[in-house]
Amino acid sequence: MQQPASFAAIVLAAGAGTRMNSALPKVMHEIAGQPMIAHALSALAPLEPAETVVVVGPDMASVARAVAPLRTAVQPAPLGTGDAVRAARPALIEKLAPTGPITDVLVLFGDTPLLQSETLARLLEERRAEPAAAVAVAGMRPADPGPYGRLVVGPQGLEAIVEANDATPEQRAIGLVNGGIMAIDGRLVFDLVEAIGCGNAKGEFYLTDIVGIARSRGLDCRVAELPAEELAGVNSRTELAAAEAVMQTRLRRRAMAEGATLIAPNTVFLSADTRLGRDVVVEPNVIFGRGVTAADGARIRAFSHIEGAEIGPGAIVGPFARLRPGAVLESDVHVGNFVEVKAARLGRGAKANHLTYLGDSEIGSGSNIGAGTITCNYDGFNKWRTMIGDNAFIGSNTALVAPVTVGAGAIVAAGSVVTRDVPPDALTLGRGEQVDKPGRAEQIRARLRNKG
Ligand code: UD1
Ligand code: CA
Repeated sequence: MQQPASFAAIVLAAGAGTRMNSALPKVMHEIAGQPMIAHALSALAPLEPAETVVVVGPDMASVARAVAPLRTAVQPAPLGTGDAVRAARPALIEKLAPTGPITDVLVLFGDTPLLQSETLARLLEERRAEPAAAVAVAGMRPADPGPYGRLVVGPQGLEAIVEANDATPEQRAIGLVNGGIMAIDGRLVFDLVEAIGCGNAKGEFYLTDIVGIARSRGLDCRVAELPAEELAGVNSRTELAAAEAVMQTRLRRRAMAEGATLIAPNTVFLSADTRLGRDVVVEPNVIFGRGVTAADGARIRAFSHIEGAEIGPGAIVGPFARLRPGAVLESDVHVGNFVEVKAARLGRGAKANHLTYLGDSEIGSGSNIGAGTITCNYDGFNKWRTMIGDNAFIGSNTALVAPVTVGAGAIVAAGSVVTRDVPPDALTLGRGEQVDKPGRAEQIRARLRNKG
């Protein structure tokens, strides 16, 4: 991708987000397992902005944490997008041309999570194309222009942006609308922004007014028409779900392009950071939470739920398996139905095929964990570890009461409750002895029958 000359990015995230009806700041709502703002920032990163300032509200420590180490500026009250840009002034003013090296300021919104780097780059190029414009605005033609600002274009280029609430019926009929991102001449940006007033339907300082202000000073403004799908803003839960759907389609396509088979792609949910190797097969109805990698040739069978897990080459997971954070499956491990793995490493070729909980554990390679095995890792206060050596055999319905170690090659008999360490190659039976009383069953039945 062509690197644009030095620019600063201002990412607006201080809005009240009223339409989300949420206790969470709007930009912290997640898409594909990441806050919306993280998506905007990852689109920005490859363009290497010289400075990035995220504008947040006074009670948005969670946003500041999510964007760290990027700097944040606080907008004391959500008085509008123009006022929000003003809040970034102290962080940037010295670094902008003509005193500093930064020639462009790119303003983008934390609530447009579908934006891609190429699109941002095109907007910067549009502003710089000779003769350079004071402001270049991302225009789009969505199916429903609804609440977006209308772009009024005349013979001289872009003349004004009129918010839907302030538009005349003729202006509302305009299909070309403001996608929200703008590239602004670094020498002019804060002068233009200072001139914004709040005489509009909402009584807010609209960033969009800088176009009219620039025109009144004889400066050029232009539109770069960019893909509506990427510029869709998320203001409500319905729009959040729509953006999630677009993002999922993108992630599924990427996974398939990278060599994974998704048998029923629309039923597989991925996180932005899910990484599937070549010839991974994902059966229908699988959910990938954050932080999952599956190496080449792994198979994820239907209805599995996977989060924070590393799946080795050739491993088989599911159907109906649950891998939780810290699950590490080395090559050719099998984890079958109704098995839950948390903070546990299963060595090469280990198998836990049925109805098992493995938590805070190390399972040696080649070990077999029988159906119904439970690592009892929690005593109500603390978590304890279970260590199982290589090639051990844990019989079905074993309870391993941690902290406990089972040596390599040991056999633990089915139904054992293991409370002490098991030496390597030992046979351990930790269960009540079986008692047989010949003929007693018939005697009992006779007695019960006679009682009736
Ligand atoms: C804005 C544009 C509209 C455009 C649309 C594209 C304005 C006035 N309107 O409308 O022309 O079509 O985006 O999606 O700019 N924010 C702050 N501080 C504030 C207000 C908002 O930081 O005081 C942030 C929000 O957190 C959000 C972004 O700015 O990330 C946009 O604000 P929002 O209220 O969603 O603007 P729209 O009404 O969608
Ligand atoms: Ca918006």
